[in-house]
Amino acid sequence: MMMGGLLMSGLTMLSEANLPTPAFALTPVFREYIDTFDGYSFKYPQNWIQVRGAGADIFFRDPIVLDENLSVEFSSPSSSKYKSLEDLGSPEEAGKKVLRQYLTEFMSTRLGVKRESNILTTSSRVADDGKLYYQVEVNIKSYANNNELAVMPQDRVARLEWDRRYLAVLGVENNRLYSLRLQTPEKVFLEEEKDLRRVMESFRVEKI
Ligand SMILES: *[C@@H]1O[C@H](CO)[C@@H](O)[C@H](O)[C@H]1NC(C)=O
Repeated sequence: MMMGGLLMSGLTMLSEANLPTPAFALTPVFREYIDTFDGYSFKYPQNWIQVRGAGADIFFRDPIVLDENLSVEFSSPSSSKYKSLEDLGSPEEAGKKVLRQYLTEFMSTRLGVKRESNILTTSSRVADDGKLYYQVEVNIKSYANNNELAVMPQDRVARLEWDRRYLAVLGVENNRLYSLRLQTPEKVFLEEEKDLRRVMESFRVEKI
């Protein structure tokens, strides 16, 4: 009886924040990551795992969907002199730069690989810290020919390899350009949009 009572109250606490939905669809608890040394912070789903040596200043990924991850990067303090986000131009112009950077990073040297990209939205907002942030959303699809060496064009069938959503939040502080980047398969994005937007909205840059 006692045990049951305890369990029940535990469940009640949980469901206050999460309306009754199947267990797997529960809104995850968020944890805050604060880097006072480099000057940024954000919130991420508690079950995400930090991956070291992934090339970014910080890198987390979903433990189940390995293609879903987030990273934070910033321009090198010695070589960059960003005064404000507007140095990048409008959100639309910044969006084009972000997309160009993605396409460069994902450039493939494989034969017969084609990328199709789209800027879905760009926007700006002033967060509760009074600072300006840009948000950029991009879709990129990658197609590969199943038989690039086929002589007849009709034998080279382009197959969709992946279809991903890339979300970036940009902010300027300490003369640096900071970017939080989220990447996820498009079908996962549709399911987890609310959580991913919460990560994006939580990103802050701070004076060091
Ligand atoms: C992060 O996700 C992207 C695709 O969304 C994937 O290509 C990449 O390998 C992932 N990175 C790591 C380190 O898991």
